[in-house]
Amino acid sequence: MKKGDFKALPPHQIISYARSIVDFILEKANSHIFHVVSHLDADGLAAAGVVLKTLRRLGARFHARIVHQLSERVITSLSKSGVFIFTDLGSGQLSLINKFFNENVVIIDHHPPESENKENFLHFNPHFFGLDGGTEISSAGMAYLVSREIDDANRDLAALAVVGGLGDRQDKGEGRRLTGLNAEIVSEATESGVIEEVKDLIFFGRETRPIPVALEYTMDPFIPGLSGDHAACVKFLVERVKIPLRSGDRWRTLSELSQDEKSRLVSELVKYMLGPGGMSASEAQSIIGTVYVLTREPLGTPMRDSREFAFLLNACGRTRKTGLGLAICMGDRRISGEAIKVAGEYRAKLAEYLKWLEKDKVKVKGDICWFNGEHYIDDRMVGTVTSILSSSRPYQDKVIVGFAYSEEEAAVKVSTRLGAEVKKEVNLGELMRYVINKMGLSFVAGGHDLAAGAYIPAGREEELIEHLSAELGSRKN
Ligand code: C5P
Repeated sequence: MKKGDFKALPPHQIISYARSIVDFILEKANSHIFHVVSHLDADGLAAAGVVLKTLRRLGARFHARIVHQLSERVITSLSKSGVFIFTDLGSGQLSLINKFFNENVVIIDHHPPESENKENFLHFNPHFFGLDGGTEISSAGMAYLVSREIDDANRDLAALAVVGGLGDRQDKGEGRRLTGLNAEIVSEATESGVIEEVKDLIFFGRETRPIPVALEYTMDPFIPGLSGDHAACVKFLVERVKIPLRSGDRWRTLSELSQDEKSRLVSELVKYMLGPGGMSASEAQSIIGTVYVLTREPLGTPMRDSREFAFLLNACGRTRKTGLGLAICMGDRRISGEAIKVAGEYRAKLAEYLKWLEKDKVKVKGDICWFNGEHYIDDRMVGTVTSILSSSRPYQDKVIVGFAYSEEEAAVKVSTRLGAEVKKEVNLGELMRYVINKMGLSFVAGGHDLAAGAYIPAGREEELIEHLSAELGSRKN
């Protein structure tokens, strides 16, 4: 395949815009320091990883900053000179960026843009090319489109592009496949031998881990009552699936199960997810699908499975170990033991938060269900918890709102998600911006159709619920 030769469309425009960013970067590479500012989730870290690796290969000087949100506080704390590359953020904060910068800004993002582009910024966003940034390409994917135009040798970075897309749950195609430009990137990566697609159970560690551990570690989908709980996984496998977990003195792995054993495991698991797990039918089905194996990563490491890699990055980003996550993206494998430990702690924390929510912490008001994690739930993890609730049966037809107190912003972090089965058209990003505005707040809010976030002053949580509920009600009519 030649450079720019994508089957999905519109390649000429998107690739030619990527080339204008390449020209800009090459022009500044020897004279300027690059400040890469990115979002702390898996896609943000992967996008920053693509850009930083590309800059390193060019011999350019760079500095990275990973943040939860591009707020005024963050912008004013940045260096006053150099080139600024914003990844996985910026499109929703154009007016803020515009207030502080006149030039030397590149935005590579997939969130819906706040407005039309300003001519003085290079702003690379799939929405400008008629593509859906929610499902067809991630920020890491957009960064990859730039990187591969700099040098064919950068095509190995397609692995990070896929990790970013999966981190943002863009695997919405049949059998959990990536679609759109993501799929084009996958086929490019398959051709160059970086990725292999396999249809299997989406367990973390299918090839190498003892089955109860693989089940316990599985976080996408998160299975309430099993994910993160080793003892519960062993009990489930022994009592319900009734498969021998050991072969002599060795633990068996998923790949060693006979067809019959695997079918029993799938059927019991689906029954569990639909029953005690309280998951939606579509979420239960998502336990089987396309696994994207990163073939250059050693067998038995979490980086070998793109979804587990994404989970690891999310864990690092959301537990304030952003340097660790970036180092993993940059290819440093000496610290992978430390990252694995962080992922374990993150998994346990998520399981603990979900147990806490079971104690009648989730309230329902009309089309909305909401919880307030106050100081108990970490503000960087409230989004993940809200996402998990959005696919659980009692809440799948609601808008889910999670709150948690943020020390850093001295405000309340709000995360909203559209339930998996909500039928009506709601664009949460737009809705949040509208409501925050209506409440007279100047805080930044934004996001996509299915997920949005914001900060609000403490004490105004219930007022936000009232406004959201009224707005949703009036849009229904
Ligand atoms: O923070 P949270 O995970 O709830 O955000 C949901 C989605 O909304 C994320 O994709 C995030 O990047 C986006 N977002 C945004 N602008 C904000 C807050 C969140 O684009 N101000």
